[in-house]
Amino acid sequence: MKILVTGGCGYIGSHTVVKLLEEKFEVVIIDNLVNSKREVLEKIKKITGSDVTFYQEDLCNLDALKNIFKKEKFDAVIHFAGLKAVGESVQIPLKYYQNNLISTMNLLSCMQEYGVKKLVFSSSATVYGNPKSLPIKEDFPLQTTNPYGTTKLMIEQILKDVYQANPDLDITILRYFNPIGAHKSGLLGEDPNGIPNNLMPYVVRVAMGTLPVLSIFGSDYNTIDGTGVRDYIHVLDLAKGHLLALKNPKSGLKIYNLGTGKGTSVLELVNMFEKVNQVKVNKKFTARRDGDIDACYASNEKAMKELGFKCEYTLEDMCKDSYNYAKNNINL
Ligand code: NAD
Ligand code: UD1
Repeated sequence: MKILVTGGCGYIGSHTVVKLLEEKFEVVIIDNLVNSKREVLEKIKKITGSDVTFYQEDLCNLDALKNIFKKEKFDAVIHFAGLKAVGESVQIPLKYYQNNLISTMNLLSCMQEYGVKKLVFSSSATVYGNPKSLPIKEDFPLQTTNPYGTTKLMIEQILKDVYQANPDLDITILRYFNPIGAHKSGLLGEDPNGIPNNLMPYVVRVAMGTLPVLSIFGSDYNTIDGTGVRDYIHVLDLAKGHLLALKNPKSGLKIYNLGTGKGTSVLELVNMFEKVNQVKVNKKFTARRDGDIDACYASNEKAMKELGFKCEYTLEDMCKDSYNYAKNNINL
């Protein structure tokens, strides 16, 4: 089976490509490298011993995309490509709407033109906004608080409309919770540009001494210790979820949460990171970050029941693997 992986050089895409190659799928990556590096391809080869076909191309270029579809004859598409920085999306919303929406619409027209029926799409828990209760189920009301999140919600709507008009399509929307961790080899991981916004990449840099101190945003949340609670999931478990979605015999339009179903507070995560890595993380409490919510974790019952999804890795693994990748790869 030949799979197109858009954004396959990125953080989640590269881990998924490794799993696909390990299961003997043929992989073609399209990535414009706007937020990733070509070296990832060599690392994938080093881990799996297998080659992928790579096109450095922008999905917003419809003609180029059509040519690739014509040549490659895909059986299915996993669509990771997109811009994902929440703060930047507030500053430059048009960049996010243009990139994330046009790329997806181009992809859908090519799939239609070349008869590709199966799509797995990367959505986010951000589409639930501030949930009324926990754990979050797939049928909870949807709302967003920033342009990045709105692009995910709009794409979900586009997929629902396109499916309504073409019920022979087979579309899976995966709503990720908070992916962290890295490949066990230490070769693949998350390496955001500039000063990180997300918790784990920030913790890693403080532990390595490149950033002086971690600001813990808020200590008065209605949670176990006053700090924000999230559902952190190992990127390798997340990657596995995509293979299960691809192999799911159930057709139609399906939506699944991919999370562990367990909430972890900022302090719990930092304490675990210090313990398993035997390293100190300087920290201070500061004001809440605008737009943050108290707690967010998934009900993963639907994914467990329908996909056989089960998380293998613990918070301890996530902390170890994130630090291992950083020590080996990040030029701090
Ligand atoms: P990433 O930035 O590491 O990977 C995305 C890849 O897409 C990058 O390699 C980038 O170069 C590529 N890309 C972006 N726009 C493109 C375009 N127009 N044409 C071709 N390539 C393009 O991000 P990630 O963390 O691997 O996330 C993958 C997907 O999952 C994204 O859609 C993201 O919004 C979604 N998601 C991520 C998280 C997270 O915390 N990482 C959470 C929820 C959802
Ligand atoms: C953020 C995005 C969300 C996106 C997700 C994954 C916002 C408001 N939300 O979610 O849309 O899908 O990333 O990319 O940006 N924290 C600190 N100090 C830090 C960084 C974070 O205390 O330096 C805390 C936060 O307040 C939160 C937790 O750590 O309680 C996790 O934060 P983060 O990793 O940014 O993820 P989310 O806020 O869940």
